[in-house]
Amino acid sequence: ILFTFVSLALLLLLLYLRNPYICQDLSYTITAIKIAIRMSKFKKQKPFYSILDCFLDQVARQPHKKFIVFEESSYTYSQADKESNRVARALSKHAQLKEGDTVALFLGNEPQFVWIWLALTKLGCNASLLNYNIRSKSLLHCFSCCEAKVLVAGADLRGAVEEVLPTLNQQGVRVFILSEDCDVEGIESLSDKIQQASDQPLSPQLRANINLKSPALYIYTSGTTGLPKAAVINHERLWMASFVQAVAGVRSDDIIYVYLPLYHSSGFLMGLCGAIEKGITVVLRRKFSASHFWNDCRKYNVTVIQYIGEIMRYLCNTPKRDNDRDHKVRLALGNGIRADTWTDFLQRFGAIRICECYGATEGNIGFVNYAGKVGAIGKENFLHKMGCPYALIRYDTEKEEPVKDSRGFCIEVPRGETGLLIARIAERSPFIGYAKNSQQTEKKKVRDVFVKGDLYFNSGDLLKIDNEGFVFFQDRIGDTFRWKGENVATTEVADHLLMVDCIKEANVYGVKVPGHEGRIGMAALTLKENMDFDGKAAYQHVKNFLPSYARPRFIRIQDALVVTGTFKQMKVKLGEEGFNPAVIRDPLFYLEDNKGYVPMTQEIFSSIAEGRIRL
Ligand SMILES: *[C@@H]1O[C@H](CO)[C@@H](O)[C@H](O)[C@H]1NC(C)=O
Ligand SMILES: *[C@@H]1O[C@H](CO)[C@@H](O)[C@H](O)[C@H]1NC(C)=O
Repeated sequence: ILFTFVSLALLLLLLYLRNPYICQDLSYTITAIKIAIRMSKFKKQKPFYSILDCFLDQVARQPHKKFIVFEESSYTYSQADKESNRVARALSKHAQLKEGDTVALFLGNEPQFVWIWLALTKLGCNASLLNYNIRSKSLLHCFSCCEAKVLVAGADLRGAVEEVLPTLNQQGVRVFILSEDCDVEGIESLSDKIQQASDQPLSPQLRANINLKSPALYIYTSGTTGLPKAAVINHERLWMASFVQAVAGVRSDDIIYVYLPLYHSSGFLMGLCGAIEKGITVVLRRKFSASHFWNDCRKYNVTVIQYIGEIMRYLCNTPKRDNDRDHKVRLALGNGIRADTWTDFLQRFGAIRICECYGATEGNIGFVNYAGKVGAIGKENFLHKMGCPYALIRYDTEKEEPVKDSRGFCIEVPRGETGLLIARIAERSPFIGYAKNSQQTEKKKVRDVFVKGDLYFNSGDLLKIDNEGFVFFQDRIGDTFRWKGENVATTEVADHLLMVDCIKEANVYGVKVPGHEGRIGMAALTLKENMDFDGKAAYQHVKNFLPSYARPRFIRIQDALVVTGTFKQMKVKLGEEGFNPAVIRDPLFYLEDNKGYVPMTQEIFSSIAEGRIRL
């Protein structure tokens, strides 16, 4: 017996030495298998088991548990259920909604957002989650992507709605606003109608034809090019994203802090839907605030937080306090934290497990760094790779295309080298694409990658996988860059710049800024003959039409724009050249907050480099 014991111990030690992450690997594998089993049960059930059914089960199981805590109010699972019944009844009566209709939600983070979405799901409707920062042309564009026949807007967004109201009314769209009354012709009030409606449950018959593959939501993303596109999130995808919390180790007694916008997948899918799956309490906040963050965590006993890299850096940049470690947060779930911020964060705020994840809203592949390795976005796992096969292929960043071998196929990079992540599109890892945009959907697909006829999803991200199987994010390619957690589509920004009178051509790209995640917007411009750069007009235009994160912070005036052999605009080289006036001879301008474009100086450059100016 002793011998068996010793040899077993030795074997375990040997395994551990070969793979120090064996425990985490095992626990991940077990969780993944459990999820796969549950998923297949949901699929088989007739009618299928949706996240709404899961919510209703939580209501039955724990009606008095707090579901949403918001400012000074809190709502139990049962109250949320009743509230959403009211909304569903009001909308079905006054907007004549029925199964399969699409409703656009234009609303900030508040409990009503959750009630309305639940209500729409109860009616079998698709919800289109509009980014509340967008205005005018972009707003109309996003709205028309999903052919919504009803718009529900928050009271504070009334001005933005009125701007586009004539077009909406022309298109026969019903517009509701969350207020008691409204005296604007073409806008109907909704809050009064909700209050008058009954809170009795709705018949599941109303959504009898919805299945796992039916669209549930539209979430907007920049994808790789052009205007925002509506990524179709079907019920299957909704489930998969909801399981991220389980993979990250969220427990049923946790309390999660959701302050990321609910119109994005991190806040909505990973945050809210994940919370429903686990049946936990959500502390909802309108907007991130560095100064309130830890006070909120203390006040509401938050145990799990979500993050994007920028947020973690802001938190580390706040003045140190004695009570920095006085909180119950044990787990942080998110993406994009840089290795140095990660270390700073742990040192300052105590032993919080950071679970970094990777995934795109419309993507068919994701990673979770379940082993907690600093700086990694995920870890390879054979089961995961079997479920959704992926590869890193060699990519030429200057030509902006994959490198091909002599037979015309792509080349997988060796371990430790950077390559473009592609993931096979298959039954188990489907790519649904964008609503009413087959052209852009097609653009995200690559065919004949390793053999004739195969089909992959192009993530647009360059990654690296090390010897231990840890996955590291390197860069993003193509026509988008990420700033402050938002994707910015370069072509969309360029289209707006071209509307400014003096601008002839525009090439928009992202540049790295010391101490910041992602890239900030910069534009190389050529001007019309005999015209000067009109900083005032350019500022007015970008301010009116682009959300702040998308406005080019730097402008570079060139005599001619450099293009590649295939007439593609050069972005990589310009991005590398940056915005240092000591290096760049072309005239440079800088967008000063609340002021407009001013000539770039060495003084400004140093202030940015040394962190005295916050971008
Ligand atoms: C909304 O969902 C239904 C199925 O639930 C689907 O048939 C319909 O096409 C969706 N609407 C849009 C605009 O995609
Ligand atoms: C937080 O936890 C403490 C101690 O467990 C408890 O006394 C307090 O009421 C809780 N606060 C909230 C808002 O639930």
